[in-house]
Amino acid sequence: MNDKLVISGNKKLNGTLNVQGAKNSALPLIAAAIMAEDEVELIDVPKLKDVTTMLEILKRLGCKVVERGNVLLIDNRTLTSVTVPEDLMKEMRSSIVLLGALLAKKNKAMVSYPGGCAIGERPIELHLMNFQRLGCEVEEKENKIIAKAPLGLKGTDIELDYPSVGATENLMMSSVFAQGITNIINPAKEPEIVDLQNFLNAMGAKIEGAGTNNIKIIGVNRLKGTKHRINPDRIVAGTYMIAGAITGGNVTLKNVIPEHVSSLTDKLREAGVNIIEGDRSLTIIAPEKFNKIELIKTSPYPGFPTDLQPQILALCTVLNGSSLIVENIFESRFRHVEELKKMGADIMLGDGIALVRGPTKLTGTKIKASDLRAGASLVIAALGAEGVSVVEGLEHIDRGYEQIENQLRRLGAKVERVKWFEDKYENA
Ligand code: UD1
Repeated sequence: MNDKLVISGNKKLNGTLNVQGAKNSALPLIAAAIMAEDEVELIDVPKLKDVTTMLEILKRLGCKVVERGNVLLIDNRTLTSVTVPEDLMKEMRSSIVLLGALLAKKNKAMVSYPGGCAIGERPIELHLMNFQRLGCEVEEKENKIIAKAPLGLKGTDIELDYPSVGATENLMMSSVFAQGITNIINPAKEPEIVDLQNFLNAMGAKIEGAGTNNIKIIGVNRLKGTKHRINPDRIVAGTYMIAGAITGGNVTLKNVIPEHVSSLTDKLREAGVNIIEGDRSLTIIAPEKFNKIELIKTSPYPGFPTDLQPQILALCTVLNGSSLIVENIFESRFRHVEELKKMGADIMLGDGIALVRGPTKLTGTKIKASDLRAGASLVIAALGAEGVSVVEGLEHIDRGYEQIENQLRRLGAKVERVKWFEDKYENA
């Protein structure tokens, strides 16, 4: 039994929101915190289920964790274990970044195989291959991965076949204490990679080049504690930008770095949305009448993020004309489509592509989120739809959006969270 969102749509969103810190920065940074010799303070950590899971893992490894609102204090001086508990590993596959951090800190780590997830297979062979290239022994047995480097790791040049975000993060962390220099060629360039570099450097690491095609890591002997503010969440910012647009609204976002969402800004401008960029803020003003967006292709940063594909697809259903959406990162990432069709959307699916024929008039109904961003897509559609929608599967949305119902209500939306135990919509 899970909570639901009940949304009365077709109401213009207006007002100002503060964007939360980035989940996808917070998770690797919390993992990296265990590499320090003394206490680390992280600021603007979003209060989300995935963050709680990561902290639970740290506690089970023996770390001390204190949470004060959105501030986290992590003290790993009591760290004893190098084994990520299987039950928690299963809950969140991105805990794989602990492998690199533990390996760096203890020269040994053990995790269980993370397996697939709703949006696709998500293998980790690149992560493991990179550890081996640094001189680590990797053993896979009975669904466990054991990584060992008793004599420590040795820096070298490593070219990634694909700029995987997680593999780049794992490699950056594991090579911080490696002997000599590690060069990562063709790394991921996402803002979260830059955030990780800044955090590790603040602790005493010597890393340069994050955000470019080559990251250079000069091995150091120790990392000290530090205080670091997490990057704003560009995917959450993008979600509220699209939500504002679909309702014909006027929304200002604070704590957003406009450059981080520029691929979305370009597409929204193509649709006729007026976007005014500030220093760390941004305002979107929806047009009277939308144009179509011809083509959206997801690709690694600075391309259009796969994590905003479901949301912009929802917007495309109300645009004037057809949009072609090509998903290049995750093979099963169109699970929102069937749900959007229930609301009246006209979408044809092919192999990794969706043809969205607009404009359609969306109508509220009962729909179910299959994963985090698919859930965000349904919330956006519900906000733009005529009538009432009941969005089920809220536990997925809660993995990435801090108090989504309160945030939307601040902008004037009619949204209600129905706790599973007081669910009067169960038989609706
Ligand atoms: C991260 C983000 C996720 C986002 C994704 C792509 C976090 C916690 N999650 O996930 O929200 O959707 O980046 O922007 O930051 N791949 C392999 N082998 C590997 C590793 C990856 O084939 O060893 C493939 C994956 O199957 C996928 C693609 O590479 O098709 C991208 O994956 P990756 O960049 O690694 O994403 P994550 O780090 O898992």
